[in-house]
Amino acid sequence: MSFKPLFALAALAVAVIAAPQPRALCPNGKTTTHAACCVWFDVLDDIQENLFDGAECGEETHESLRLTFHDAIGFSQELFNEGKFGGGGADGSIMAFSDIETNFHANDGVDDIVEAQRPFALAHGVSFGDFIQFAGAVGVSNCAGGPRLQFLAGRSNHSQASPDLLVPEPSDSPSTIFARMADAGFTIEETVDLLISHTVAAQDRVDPTIPGTPFDSTPSQFDAQFLVETLLTGTLFPGNGSNVGEVQSPLHGEFRLQSDFAISRDSRAACEWQSLIVNHNTMVTKFESVMARLATVGHNPNALTDCSDIIPVPKAANFGAPTLPAGKTLKDIDASCRASPFPTLKTDPGPATSIAAVPPS
Ligand code: HEM
Ligand SMILES: *[C@@H]1O[C@H](CO)[C@@H](O)[C@H](O)[C@H]1NC(C)=O
Ligand SMILES: *[C@@H]1O[C@H](CO)[C@@H](O)[C@H](O)[C@H]1NC(C)=O
Repeated sequence: MSFKPLFALAALAVAVIAAPQPRALCPNGKTTTHAACCVWFDVLDDIQENLFDGAECGEETHESLRLTFHDAIGFSQELFNEGKFGGGGADGSIMAFSDIETNFHANDGVDDIVEAQRPFALAHGVSFGDFIQFAGAVGVSNCAGGPRLQFLAGRSNHSQASPDLLVPEPSDSPSTIFARMADAGFTIEETVDLLISHTVAAQDRVDPTIPGTPFDSTPSQFDAQFLVETLLTGTLFPGNGSNVGEVQSPLHGEFRLQSDFAISRDSRAACEWQSLIVNHNTMVTKFESVMARLATVGHNPNALTDCSDIIPVPKAANFGAPTLPAGKTLKDIDASCRASPFPTLKTDPGPATSIAAVPPS
């Protein structure tokens, strides 16, 4: 008896078991795992066209990813332990109580995306908490090489305003940030994994004179350039300099947050940070895992409905291994993980260049 057909049969059996079984036929003719997920097909088409300007990885995408964090991190076990209200986590309160929460100092600038998103959530009758996590997941799927984040639906639309001072500030020390993140359920390693998000990021408010200044040279790619470039020795300010929460960056047109600088070099975080540079798949998988946790802060994930199959498969990575920007060498890297050497990276050819701002849309 030949082994070949047996093997083929086994492979078929595995494929049948592994493939999620579509159970619901939606009015639009598409199928998904649960009828409650159908509405998200309509939300998807609408926001890709009308919020993300045709499925771009641009300003609204970046802001939507940031908003997932600013809503979800409004949760404090310590406050609950003291008998106070500690926030509802990823509950949409930043949108329902935007008049309160967007006035918190650490939420400076998020009012734009809250108001841009709100009409979509209202038009489709979905909860604010669900919408914010969905928009972040769809948005980051537009970034080349990006993650395909889990999306669970069913968060209540009822929430209370989050207490202030739960969102980390770029001027906070690593110890302060790690303590705050631990209070919301995240380890130091997980906090580093969450900061991978800053590879598709720019700032508008830390130095308001230079809006759209990105944190790395490739703000529309979900690559490891942010992790590499943040470890380069800082030499200049992209604007007029030295704002609260800002430190020197290595490249003209690039912005560096003090918190990213300090965490990447902190002995408790540096090895996790460096470990994410070498393998794109590992970096993406770690981000997917930690974002599944972030999106359900304050919720029991088992009580929500898995609508992940609505999230688009991200654009393939159209880039190679991370590089050192032109003009830089490994000597410019502040290698900070004592346990293992910094990986060998190639330097981009040509003279040192300036990084372009993320255009407003
Ligand atoms: C843990 C400490 C963190 C601090 C101190 C921090 C701080 C900041 C600051 C100051 C900005 C610039 C905002 C502006 O001026 O417009 C920013 C941007 C951003 N942050 Fe964070 N962040 C942290 C964690 C996170 C996490 C966990 C996520 C998402 C999972 C995230 C996603 C983003 C994104 C995508 C942007 C870019 C927004 C845009 O381009 O408009 N950040 N962050
Ligand atoms: C969610 O709550 C807001 C008020 O905070 C309300 O305007 C909106 O209609 C509610 N959405 C749903 C789907 O109930
Ligand atoms: C720097 O400051 C000068 C004088 O205050 C101002 O005119 C200029 O617009 C600023 N430029 C930037 C890039 O911040």
